[in-house]
Amino acid sequence: MVRHFLTLGALNPGEARGIVARAMALKRAHDLSHRPLVGRTLAMIFAKSSTRTRVSFEVGMAKLGGHALMLTTAQTQLGREEAVADTAKVLSRMCDAIMIRNDSQADQEELARHSRVPVINGLSERHHPCQLLADMQTWFETSGDPAGKVAAWIGDGNNVCASWIEASRLFGFDLRIAAPAEYRPSAEELALGEGAARLVDTPAAAVDGADVVVTDCWTSMGRESEQAQRIRILAPYQVDAALMRRAAPKALFMHCLPAHRGEEVTAEVIDGPHSVVWDEAENRLWAQMALLEFLLL
Ligand code: CP
Ligand code: NVA
Repeated sequence: MVRHFLTLGALNPGEARGIVARAMALKRAHDLSHRPLVGRTLAMIFAKSSTRTRVSFEVGMAKLGGHALMLTTAQTQLGREEAVADTAKVLSRMCDAIMIRNDSQADQEELARHSRVPVINGLSERHHPCQLLADMQTWFETSGDPAGKVAAWIGDGNNVCASWIEASRLFGFDLRIAAPAEYRPSAEELALGEGAARLVDTPAAAVDGADVVVTDCWTSMGRESEQAQRIRILAPYQVDAALMRRAAPKALFMHCLPAHRGEEVTAEVIDGPHSVVWDEAENRLWAQMALLEFLLL
């Protein structure tokens, strides 16, 4: 049966750990003769902007010997209301996998239902599972197995936060979430953590002694009209040096990027000694190569 990757929860803990371990092995080996995807094509549908996701999937397919096709919705018939189901049927006759970045998780599920080939969520309004494979790889590489450790999510309880909640269950760490009432993850999203993720009242309570401090932009793509209100409500949730001092001495600072210095994080923190954001960005490449092997080989 064809496997899709629309949420991190599509994997069991052993599979998730296996993909991360494989990502680390691919990175260490950096073997340009490893080309298991010769002749295979990944269709990449983008309804929203991207730097890292687009580049990492395209470069990753090239390194594995395959090819990636950039398809913006505006330049395809999807932008002229061709049905998602019809698009899935056509693309999956010619391509070996489909990656999609859009708003609607329901449209991604519809695409997957009608696709003969794996569909990968490259970000939706609800989830960003590829980001979490890279983030878990970064955690393993820089300070060992996350199991039994503590991460603090600070700020907007958004799509990336929902995937962190799923990661807390799969990788066995505690996730403390500090978010204002307006922007907390829903009860349904929190339940994805099966007890590993919980809300706390303040950023300080989340960060105290934490091994990882993670945040994301305050205004996700598609929310631009709410920007002024979000900056006002989320202002007390900025990750600054004083907040980082409450974390464990060797705590990591993570951010999926793009970042907005002076909003969700200060320059001192994101460009400082705790920050592993460039490793996270690079690991998108290795983690997704491991994911493509998992889904296609
Ligand atoms: N982190 C991330 O997904 O970045 P892009 O929006 O640049 O793809
Ligand atoms: N939460 C952000 C992540 C960008 C990679 C957004 O959805 O825009």
